[in-house]
Amino acid sequence: MSEMLYYMRWFFSCKLLGRRKPLQSVIFITDLCNLRCQHCNVVKEGPAARTKTLEQIRDELQYCYDHGSRMVDFEGGEPHLWKDASDAARASTADGSPADINTLVELAAQLGFFSSTVTTNAQLPITANSDLIWISIDGSEATHDEQRGAGSYQRALANIDKCQHPNLNVNMTITNRNWRDFHSVANLVREHPHLNRMSFSFYVPYDSRELLVPLQLRSQIIDTALQLKREGYPLMNSAAALDLLRDPARFVNRRQCWISNFILADGSRLATCPGELAGVCADCGFGMAAEEVLLWSLHPQMVKAGLSVRQPTRPNN
Ligand SMILES: C[S@@+](CC[C@H](N)C(=O)[O-])C[C@H]1O[C@@H](n2cnc3c(N)ncnc32)[C@H](O)[C@@H]1O
Ligand code: SF4
Repeated sequence: MSEMLYYMRWFFSCKLLGRRKPLQSVIFITDLCNLRCQHCNVVKEGPAARTKTLEQIRDELQYCYDHGSRMVDFEGGEPHLWKDASDAARASTADGSPADINTLVELAAQLGFFSSTVTTNAQLPITANSDLIWISIDGSEATHDEQRGAGSYQRALANIDKCQHPNLNVNMTITNRNWRDFHSVANLVREHPHLNRMSFSFYVPYDSRELLVPLQLRSQIIDTALQLKREGYPLMNSAAALDLLRDPARFVNRRQCWISNFILADGSRLATCPGELAGVCADCGFGMAAEEVLLWSLHPQMVKAGLSVRQPTRPNN
């Protein structure tokens, strides 16, 4: 069945028959990471840090596919660090080398996923050949390094400069420390020939409220974002979702976060966002949560943004 037909069938079977089938899956493949970002609630150290085997990820992909999902986002930790050097995994690669992120991208395509995405801190050469890559850039050099560690900005930029992937995009996580750099990240994306689009989310306070962006400031940043969109900056967040994101109270009661299912690094299979379990929905800042509310009402701006995200060309605002 064609991709578009599948999406239409998915929408109507969920809307009319009340089914709750995920369309997108977020699979955390490892806790291991080469950075220790101030705002990160994911990375674990020592014995608590887990890495999955190829076999486990194969089972998880199959589970997601069987439940209806057709898009997968490989998350970590740092996905480029993931490897499985076992004999079983080596037997799955063409040249007997350890399985890596591209083994997973290929596997997802073989199973029938329409697309795969990798989110990376770009500290290693960006070798993933997923349909879409999100690179986390959290400010201009000084601010990014403060949030993500010394030297991390220059390493990310050097790897972006070297990468020829046609669909490289930037995601910024906004905290109350880096928000002043929003415009400069937008400028980087607009000016760098290898970058297509930018999206952003606000810090979600899983562990501490220290970096939380107060609501009034959120609204101010969103006003800047809307202005930049009007000026033609390649900002991915739809205007309607940005408006919802001003205050989580506007959308969390209407949330449709089941549209993405999550499989955590410890193997827990969640039918919705881990934020719900953590009890942080009242402070949600995830752009995707607002977009999913709009998708559920087939809002034209969201549909346009969703359809364009895999095209390796800049969006036409
Ligand atoms: C967990 S990281 C994993 C992929 C990769 N290591 C990276 O940094 O892009 C994925 C994204 O989640 C964001 N993130 C981490 N903790 C967050 C939080 N508490 N609230 C909002 N976003 C968060 C990161 O900034 C990053 O853009
Ligand atoms: S690079 Fe990504 S996974 Fe690693 S600590 Fe930073 S946000 Fe977390």
